[in-house]
Amino acid sequence: MKRILGIVSSQRVAGNSEILTKAAMEATGPDHKKELIRLTDLDIKSCKGCYNCLPPDVPCHIKDDLNYLLDKIRDADAVVLAAPSYFLGPQGSIKMLQDRFLSISNSFQEFSGKHCITIATYGMPGAKGYTEVALNVTARFLNLNLIDSDSFIGASPAEVLEDPRNLDRARQMGRGLIDPGYKRTPKVSECPVCWSDILRYDGSAIICPFCGTKGEIKVEEQVARLVFSPQADHRFSDEGRRQHFDVFLNRKKQEFIAKRHYYKKLQAPYLSMDWWVSPPGGSNSK
Ligand SMILES: Cc1cc2nc3c(=O)[nH]c(=O)nc-3n(C[C@H](O)[C@H](O)[C@H](O)COP(=O)(O)O)c2cc1C
Repeated sequence: MKRILGIVSSQRVAGNSEILTKAAMEATGPDHKKELIRLTDLDIKSCKGCYNCLPPDVPCHIKDDLNYLLDKIRDADAVVLAAPSYFLGPQGSIKMLQDRFLSISNSFQEFSGKHCITIATYGMPGAKGYTEVALNVTARFLNLNLIDSDSFIGASPAEVLEDPRNLDRARQMGRGLIDPGYKRTPKVSECPVCWSDILRYDGSAIICPFCGTKGEIKVEEQVARLVFSPQADHRFSDEGRRQHFDVFLNRKKQEFIAKRHYYKKLQAPYLSMDWWVSPPGGSNSK
């Protein structure tokens, strides 16, 4: 028996993301334990950027539901992560969650190997934006084993069900959650490492803005195609993660400690610009 966790980042009850998540989970069959979390119902507070959680075994001190969610992911064997496109990006709870991953930057190993699929929903043709990419990046920062991802069109709640191919696809993805050998191949339009189809061109090379993989555009017989040169130490590899979180951030933190009096002096004139306003009865933004 495997434990399948569905995380739905939409407040809509029986909305498109929820329906497809449930369809994917159901496709794993009755022998597996299923749990659903509506991410928008959890209290996930904003990261304060204090870096106190950088050392190993120092949990984030913010009191909210983050650790409940992380424990649920730790307990799960496989995870479905779903969100609708809101203004071309994922519904906001996804980013709020992602920003808190610093607190587990030393313990990503504990999530590795867990199969994950991501489900992005959107309503308007041509307006899916970067939601699927953002969900995939979330899964990759968590070090989950992303085995499939897709975007599904449907604006009104349950509209995704009007096209039976959507249900078939969600079920296919769901079956992959319990199939140890299942992993979709990257599309020709995607970075082969992290599957982003959003790419940057710096004037000479194509660069994946997420994992840093470089590529070039090759034209053969008037057909352009992307040719990538994946490196073993990309951002989502163990070494890339170590460079990002252990090496770079810890070095920055030590630098900050050494230079904090100097930085305080640089801050001083800006601290005195005390122009903050806040709603009546609300907290002061200082
Ligand atoms: C605030 C808001 C912003 C939205 N922005 C987009 C958008 O940028 N692109 C798009 O295609 N659909 C957009 N939609 C439509 C939703 O992505 C679509 O209805 C989706 O299926 C909702 O999923 P749900 O039923 O799981 O909540 C937006 C919907 C809302 C409520």
